[in-house]
Amino acid sequence: MNRITLTVNGVRHFVDVEDETLLLDVLRDTAGTTSVREGCGVGACGACTVLAGGTSVSSCLALAVRYDGAELTTAEGLDENDDVVSSFVDCNAAQCGYCIPGFLLMSRELLSENPHPTGQEITDHLEGNICRCGTYPEIHRAVAAAAERRAIR
Ligand code: FES
Ligand code: FES
Repeated sequence: MNRITLTVNGVRHFVDVEDETLLLDVLRDTAGTTSVREGCGVGACGACTVLAGGTSVSSCLALAVRYDGAELTTAEGLDENDDVVSSFVDCNAAQCGYCIPGFLLMSRELLSENPHPTGQEITDHLEGNICRCGTYPEIHRAVAAAAERRAIR
């Protein structure tokens, strides 16, 4: 058993984990951040995406012990007035919503690295995320709208 410290959306958690405990399970079961979802469980859908120090991580593949001391952001940590969240709402970029937390975090990562992405860059950055409802056009528009919203501030 290993004692680790995770800061999730600004709240510090002290957690005892086995060597093989997944970050996904700690986030859902201990931190209570159930927006972090298991889709495929093998790193192929993006539903479990979180940000660790601003960088996207597939939490279904990540060993929690490796994230001792990390600052993690999940969708629960995004304010409703957040530019990306507001743009997803305005563009109706959700149907069942299962995939949306992962898309929100990937979109935030993209815009922090590249505030003015081209359409192709948006597509490329989000290509690892799957939406089984096929909401891709709305999600794509929402990311472009969030970039515009930031540009005029
Ligand atoms: S559940 Fe982690 S990538 Fe699909
Ligand atoms: S909105 Fe249903 S899976 Fe994406």
